[in-house]
Amino acid sequence: MHRLAGALGVAALLLGAGPGQATTAPVTLSIACGALGVELQLCADAVGRWEKQTGVAVKIVTTPNSSTDRLALYLQMLGAHTDALDVLQIDVVWAGMLASHLTDLAPYMGDAPAGHFPALIANDTVDGRLVAMPWWTDVGVLYYRKDLLARHGFQPPRTWAEMTTIAAAVQQGERRRGRRKLWGFVFQGRAYEGLTCNALEWIASFGGGTILDDTGKVTVDNPASRQALTLAASWVGGIAPRGVLNYDEEAARGVFQTGNAVFMRNWPYAWALAQGADSPVRGKVGVIPLPAGSPGGTSAGVLGGWHLAVSRYSRHPAEAAALVRFLTSAAEQKRRAVRASYNPTVPALYQDPQVLEANPFFADLLTPLESATARPSRRAGPHYNRLSSDLWRATHDILAGAPVAARITALATDLRRLRYRAQW
Ligand code: GLC
Repeated sequence: MHRLAGALGVAALLLGAGPGQATTAPVTLSIACGALGVELQLCADAVGRWEKQTGVAVKIVTTPNSSTDRLALYLQMLGAHTDALDVLQIDVVWAGMLASHLTDLAPYMGDAPAGHFPALIANDTVDGRLVAMPWWTDVGVLYYRKDLLARHGFQPPRTWAEMTTIAAAVQQGERRRGRRKLWGFVFQGRAYEGLTCNALEWIASFGGGTILDDTGKVTVDNPASRQALTLAASWVGGIAPRGVLNYDEEAARGVFQTGNAVFMRNWPYAWALAQGADSPVRGKVGVIPLPAGSPGGTSAGVLGGWHLAVSRYSRHPAEAAALVRFLTSAAEQKRRAVRASYNPTVPALYQDPQVLEANPFFADLLTPLESATARPSRRAGPHYNRLSSDLWRATHDILAGAPVAARITALATDLRRLRYRAQW
């Protein structure tokens, strides 16, 4: 009953019912948005438009940049069953972990889910309930300095070994020319979810699998994983500054965008910022799929992205769901793509001339996105964060100098124990 009454209320508001005709008491929603790059501004603009259309007031709650810190905040708030958050921006890997705290959105979305990548809708469907709607999708990509590669006579790399060689040569050549602060490669090396993404990309692209296989068995302890992480460890203090052990997305972008790195691993959002009017590297940047482990091997950009969910403890689920439907619509996703290169979750937008004009590399991203490497979050379900933190801690230790083979074996032992307890 409450749900239906709420839905009717929002319908009346969306149809522009005047104050005298309002069917519900004034509602104020709150939405938790990220603030990485221009995220917060984009969120505020879109929410502002919806407020004007509907007359519903929305409070924006900012959340920490690190996906890991954001999860801790949500777990704390949802665990307390607070009604202080109605709409939450959740990471693609959290659907299984947070499902029990989230509202089933299916009754509110009509045919909207059919317009999104089916794999993302499947990701958000937990035990038959649609617990979130995709807002934007992400895939790890390699940014490079076109001008510096051209000056030193290199083509963009296809393998990690080539990337390593080029990064070292350009770093050395440029330093000789007096550019003392130039580094070859920056990535996300801090101990958090971002490092899990990087580690999985290295391991999977060397043919080392995705930590668990399809049956949930732990597969990470293998020669290809050792090879991948040995190469990655060799970067730290060589082509990458030691500080990379504490870099998240924005720290890496800071170094690259000020002109101090040849290559950067990041998500597509960094493109619009690198191309911004005030960016020192504007016009000098190329974006390509991440390198493969071996010639002819696969590139393994990890699937990322953020979705919108409604808290089960919201007092206004119908209004909150209406806001989610508006924000995740094709029109809003197009606006975000054109203005700030956020990848739509609506495949039709990858053929949209304005989207492609603003983001020439999007046409080449459709395949990497469709074949992106998924983190093992569906298999691990509620235990994903534990699995991921074991992986990022082991990877961080290896990047900081721990013996590769022994540390991967210890990781596999921890994960097998976790599997036994979690029964996945
Ligand atoms: C990006 C991705 C997200 C990932 C995070 C890791 O925000 O969209 O899926 O977990 O980076 O730092």
